[in-house]
This record gives sequence, structure tokens and C-alpha cells, in this order.
Amino acid sequence: MNNGFSAWWREGVFYQIYPRSFADSDGDGNGDLAGILAHLDHLNDGTPSSLGIDAIWLSPIYPSPMDDMGYDVADYCDVHPMFGSLADFDRLLAAAHQHGIRLLMDLVFNHTSYLHPWFQESRSSRESPKRDWYLWRDASPRGGPPNNWQSVFGGRAWEWDETTQQYYYHMFLPQQPDLNWRNPAVREALYEVMRFWLERGVDGFRLDVVNAYFKDALFRDNPPRLGLRGYDRQKHLYDKDQPELLEVYAQMRQILDSYGERMCVGEMLDGNPERNARYCGDGKLHLVFDFNFTRQPWHPAAFQRAVLRNEANLPPGGWPCYTLSNHDISRHLSRYGGRYPKERAKVAAAMLLTLRGTPFLYQGEEIGMKDGKIPYAQIQDPPGKRYYPFYKGRDPVRTPIPWDNSQGGGFTTGKPWLPLNSDYRQVNVAAQREDPNSVFSFYRKLIWARKASSALRRGAFEALIQRPRDGLAYLRQTEEQTVLVALNFFALPATLQLDRPLPSQKWRTLLGTHRKEDEEISLDRAIPLEPHEVWIATPR
Ligand code: GLC
Repeated sequence: MNNGFSAWWREGVFYQIYPRSFADSDGDGNGDLAGILAHLDHLNDGTPSSLGIDAIWLSPIYPSPMDDMGYDVADYCDVHPMFGSLADFDRLLAAAHQHGIRLLMDLVFNHTSYLHPWFQESRSSRESPKRDWYLWRDASPRGGPPNNWQSVFGGRAWEWDETTQQYYYHMFLPQQPDLNWRNPAVREALYEVMRFWLERGVDGFRLDVVNAYFKDALFRDNPPRLGLRGYDRQKHLYDKDQPELLEVYAQMRQILDSYGERMCVGEMLDGNPERNARYCGDGKLHLVFDFNFTRQPWHPAAFQRAVLRNEANLPPGGWPCYTLSNHDISRHLSRYGGRYPKERAKVAAAMLLTLRGTPFLYQGEEIGMKDGKIPYAQIQDPPGKRYYPFYKGRDPVRTPIPWDNSQGGGFTTGKPWLPLNSDYRQVNVAAQREDPNSVFSFYRKLIWARKASSALRRGAFEALIQRPRDGLAYLRQTEEQTVLVALNFFALPATLQLDRPLPSQKWRTLLGTHRKEDEEISLDRAIPLEPHEVWIATPR
């Protein structure tokens, strides 16, 4: 089974659920676990009328004061009442498995909420047995914070505690104190949390800011660099990416392996393929998101460069992992859609789902959702409040999923915690299920075609154009199958001139936006494409 190449996490399609915005079952305006359970058929009912994804990653569902929308955990081993209970979770997990869907929990191990009992205990006195579970320091001899470190969310990263007359470190909000990973008791407590969820049957974890666990033991100042905000005006030599990480990754890997067929995917703060390569592969993290891919402009050459850079840096046992959107960054249709949102949604989806690597979808992209518009008064995300109007925060990418065009969008019978997108009466799941040309219909065709193709799931990647201008052309190949992918990125017809000979002259269409399934085409060294055409074919 587990020969390394057929591992489910290399070949499967993952789907990120942001639980608060997915589906609300009880009318309180917040999505919940029962809401997810009720929509599993949308994700995968075993037939091509569903999306067909293989695994979900649940953003945090733990008890939390929601200062950072659940990325501030007050209890790692329970469920926030807003989302349901542990019993609801067990029901969801069992039902997901019955649907052939695996489930990843989101582990936020760099920090806890300030309301976590560990921190409450830690801050109670300097003598507390948990004092050393967090990063406490005296004021600098000149007065003020111990060093120059800045918070990712703005302001300095040190908070003064009146009671015990020391500062504590928080990479994010003051309500998110960082754990001290150098303390073996902390480590063991967090590994226990992993075991708790593995014992319950989860299939793996998404690890939040997994390269930030350790800070410099000497707490040295970061050197300056040019940038806009405080955090960007420093080189982060000392507040993340410390060498101790590798030992922890090896231990985590061992825990996961001891349960068989489990996995983890790491979120890297400021990650790039060169740095990611240190952290993933054999004996380390299974996968690491390549966020460089999300930073590309809408141009085939940019994406090809990003892919080749990622491929070139893969360590032994490493495997690419691509995503276009998540709960922290602007939805890709808002970045790329321009005047052709529907067309570009399809080109982007075809690229994501045919590259070599594990694709992660973000809820709503399968219907071509864009960022919502949130009036200032309704903004909930702390960095949004802080930097408005220069940065409006992450609420716009977290608006509820519109299931249909009714009042509340089928998301809730109450008042949604964030407003539905203004176009939800057109852009919703029900409307798109009916329409064979919708973005949703295209996603499901792609995913089911991928499932049926060994080349798309695990084949080697070969770019066919050295300097792509209009579109991408590449091959995916295993011993048993060859697949050709051609994508026109723009609104003009194009003929892609290939720099390499094709392995065949006669091709049969597997799937496309313009050509019919099984349509046959003879090609030499060029591929003619209509505007925004996707064409996926196999030798006849
Ligand atoms: C990660 C999460 C983000 C959160 C931050 C702090 O980047 O994706 O949503 O705010 O970590 O936990």
C-alpha cells in the first residue's frame, strides 16, 4: 500500500474548510460541524456529480475567544460550542470517512490564546511551574522591551505584564502568547495533543506557522531592511527558522508514522522553495505549501518559473504542494479574474489540478467566488481593523459560502457573521450545479479526470515551451500514460509553439473548455487554442 508513490496525500485533492463560513445548521449565523456534515455530498458522494475531493483540512474548531478567529486556541482537545461538540466532531469524521474523505485538523502550536489555562498559570507568578512554558523576559537594561522584534499583525512583539513585571513574546496578537518549544514539557504536551486527535481517527494535520516555533536562544535583535510596516522592516534572522526545528519535525514525523498513513502539511511564514526544501521530505514534514506560487502575476511564464523553481528545490522524498487561495490571502479570482472571471477561474483550476503535486482548494473557489466587500463597521479581523483602509484584513476572503439564491444564501437562516458576497444570487452552488458550463461543473470534471489518470496524479512534469508568452503546455507522464495539458491564459486566440517534439502526433481530448471529449487532433510542433482555452489530451 504505502510504497511512497501511491500515498494518498500525494495523489489526492485537498479542500480547505473555513468552518465558520461553510454552512450553519442552527441559525446562529456561524457555520458549524453539523453544517459541514450536511454538505459532505457536495464534496464527494462517490460520483462525478460531486466535486470529488479526497481530503478536507478544517481550519481551527477549538474553544477560543476568537481574537484571531480560532487561531488563538484556549483548549486543544475540545470543540468550540459555536461549532458543536466532540461528539459532533466524531460524527463528522465518521461520515467523512464513509464519503471517502480524509480529514486534517489545524494545529496552532506556535502560540496559544492568552485564555489557555497554560498561559493563565504561567502569568500567575514568576514561580509558577508553567512560567517557562512561554517566553518571558525582563525589560531591557535601558527600559522597554527586551529586543526589537515586531509582531506580524503590527506593533512590537512584546507585551508588558504588570503583575509579574516582565514582558512576554507574541509573534501575532498580544492575545496569542508564543509557547516555549525549548521546554521539553511543552513539547511533550503538544505531542500529546497530536496523539489525542490521531487516536480519534484524524488523518493528519495542517501545521500553523510551523517554522516559527523556535526563537533565537539569545534573543538577539533582528537586523533592519527596507519595508513598509514594522515587521517588514526587519530581516527575520532570529524570530523564526531556527535549526532546532528539524529535530521537532523528525519527532512529529515519527508520531504520525507510528499511526500509519497519516500526514502533515506545513504552513511556512515567509516561505520560499529554497527554504521549504529544508523542512519537507523523508523524515521531515510530508508537505509544505509553496506560497511563492500564490505570489505570481497572471502570466504563464511567471507560473512556469515558479513551478520549475519548486521542482528544482525538492529534497529527497519531497513532493510539490500548490494552492491558489486560502483564508489569509485574497481569493485568486480577485487577483486574476479581471474582465474574465469565469474563463480565468477555469484556466487556473486546470493548472492547479494538472501540475505535479498535491493541490489544495479553498472553499468557494469551486464556484468562482471573489473577495467580498466588508464595510469598516463590520470588519472583525484584527489586522484589518488596525490597517484599514490600506489593508482591509482577511474578512473579505472569509465570507459565507452561498449554497443557493435564497435569503441567507442557504448558508444560514439567521444573520450571517460576515455578509454574503453581493453577487451571491448568481454565484452560488445550486445555480452552478445546474449549469454544465459553470466553474463548478468544470472543477468536478477536472477532479474526476485527475482521479482516473495515473499521469495526472503522479506523472513526471515536462514543460514544452521554454519561454511561454500566451499560455502553458506541458506533459505529465507515467510508464502507463501520457497526458498533454495546454492552457491559453489570455483573451486572444493563440498558437503555442513548442520547443520540444511531442511523443505523438495524434491526440484524443480528455477534457477541455472548447473541444468535446474524445475529439481527435493531429499536432506537430504547435497547439492552436481559442481564447482562455483549456485542452487536456492523451495520445490516440
Ligand atoms: C497562520 C494562519 C492565520 C493566523 C496566523 C496566526 O498564518 O493561517 O490565519 O492568523 O497563523 O495563528
